[in-house]
Amino acid sequence: MLQVDDLRKKFKSTTAVDGVNLYLNEGESVGLLGPNGAGKSTTISMISTLLRPTGGEIHFKGVDVLKKPEVIRPVLGVVPQEIALYEELTAIENMKFFGKTYGLSGENLKNKVAEVLELVGLTDRGKDRVKEFSGGMKRRINMAVALMHDPVLLIMDEPTVGIDPQSRNYILEMVRDLNKTKNMTILYTSHYMEEVERLCDRVYIMDHGQIIASGTQEELKSILSSEETLLIEVQEKSADFIKKLSVHPSIQQVVEANGGYKVITAKGEDLFSDIFNLAKSNQVKIRGVHVQTPTLEDVFLHMTGRKLRD
Ligand SMILES: Nc1ncnc2c1ncn2[C@@H]1O[C@H](COP(=O)(O)OP(=O)(O)OP(=O)(O)O)[C@@H](O)[C@H]1O
Ligand SMILES: [Mg+2]
Repeated sequence: MLQVDDLRKKFKSTTAVDGVNLYLNEGESVGLLGPNGAGKSTTISMISTLLRPTGGEIHFKGVDVLKKPEVIRPVLGVVPQEIALYEELTAIENMKFFGKTYGLSGENLKNKVAEVLELVGLTDRGKDRVKEFSGGMKRRINMAVALMHDPVLLIMDEPTVGIDPQSRNYILEMVRDLNKTKNMTILYTSHYMEEVERLCDRVYIMDHGQIIASGTQEELKSILSSEETLLIEVQEKSADFIKKLSVHPSIQQVVEANGGYKVITAKGEDLFSDIFNLAKSNQVKIRGVHVQTPTLEDVFLHMTGRKLRD
């Protein structure tokens, strides 16, 4: 359905997108995962025809989008990272406004507003002004306006940033439902790996303007098949301890984690005694060492030496 080849964008001295290749099959739910500044939003803006690439090609159903943006615009729903709503207008007025720009009117428009409002779970708040909404409600209306014209491809740019867990859960379930029951093709951008793990069939991991890994979740995790993730729980963290761990020959990556440190090591290495000895010599008390199944976050850590979020 969508094919992106060698996509590039340069802003003066910054290369935001540096040769991105990606594709989406019809009905797929694909994640674009990467830390702040990776180039996710810039990539999305170019696919949405809002930003002109410096180089590369984008095809939608075989048609060159850069030459014929009209092939993608009417069937594309975009949920931008920043909330783009009229604060002084009510939810319904916002939805009507965006619906009209897609050519809806009369009964059709009215029915669509009711249907989408129900979908985002805000039927009882339709007549309230957006400025009176919570962050999570605004995010839901931000999604609602993107759904007014029944897009076949929905691109979401971090739709759950800064909202309460309940709204977040609601949005994730909604996206899942749009994909599974309405067969909507989804490109979902996030820097929360657990969202992408929950929603997406296939994942692209982006960093510094480039795709550094891609595949199904299983494929990506198999990158770590020769490795093991250990969680070392400690009483108190110590800079010296983490330094010693990071230079240990069998330890590939170390980062701080909740309650301690996360360590990626070669599988089968018997590190436990070394870890306990290092802890002891640095006056660190270990509460426990756990072997974990790798996550997408670990794949990122393995490939970049950094965490997705700081
Ligand atoms: N309009 C612009 N002018 C100049 N530089 C820009 C512009 N838009 C983005 N950039 C730069 O391009 C790089 C990629 O930014 P982008 O917004 O695409 O990242 P992102 O992956 O969406 O990050 P985030 O997770 O923070 O939203 C950054 O270094 C950013 O400063
Ligand atoms: Mg962004």
